[in-house]
Amino acid sequence: DRNVKIAPSILSADFANFGQEIRAIEAQGADWVHVDVMDNHFVPNLTFGPPAVKAFRKHVKTVMDVHLMISPVDSSIDAYADAGADILTAHVEAGPHIHRTLQAIRAAGMKAGVALNPGTPAEAIAHVLDLCDLVCVMTVNPGFGGQKFIDMTAKVRRLREMIGDREVHIEIDGGVDPDTAPLVRAAGADVLVAGSAVFRGGSVEAPDVYGRNIAAI
Ligand code: DX5
Ligand code: ZN
Repeated sequence: DRNVKIAPSILSADFANFGQEIRAIEAQGADWVHVDVMDNHFVPNLTFGPPAVKAFRKHVKTVMDVHLMISPVDSSIDAYADAGADILTAHVEAGPHIHRTLQAIRAAGMKAGVALNPGTPAEAIAHVLDLCDLVCVMTVNPGFGGQKFIDMTAKVRRLREMIGDREVHIEIDGGVDPDTAPLVRAAGADVLVAGSAVFRGGSVEAPDVYGRNIAAI
């Protein structure tokens, strides 16, 4: 009976078998499915767009948590609503109008998330907390799985204070593993994204490895 949710990132899954991978991680205890959308512009890597995300939706029975590492964002919001995102997270660094973006995400019927790169202070989102359902604290510079954890526990503590009694998740993304997870849990995070730490050593043929990896976080 854990008090944090684990959201495996399918960035570390087998790209030729997304349907099976999603079903496997959910069967093995994933709380949410984290989908990393990259545009080779906001971040130096390219993954998938709305049609692929819509195809993932058919397999996700829990919560589809879509992390946009794209710029601009606003012109794509309706496409991700149509693709079936439950939560849509945009980066505060992705444009000058995060307030408008968060309003538009909610207006399109999704929960709204805002992500902060490691170099961005908590105060950058002080005036939009009423428009957020989730704050994603990046603990790597976004773009790739398997990077080394950057300690952002001071930022997480500060955000918990700023959030106060609002119902806002704090999600940690990057380098989460059995060693780093306790640090961010203690600081007040309640959703942990994990890519390599969930998928390493397993496969759709050996999914119990995923279950053990999830349980170890
Ligand atoms: C980083 C992505 C993360 C990444 C996490 O750009 O947003 O979701 O897949 O991967 P790990 O857990 O391997 O650091
Ligand atoms: Zn992510």
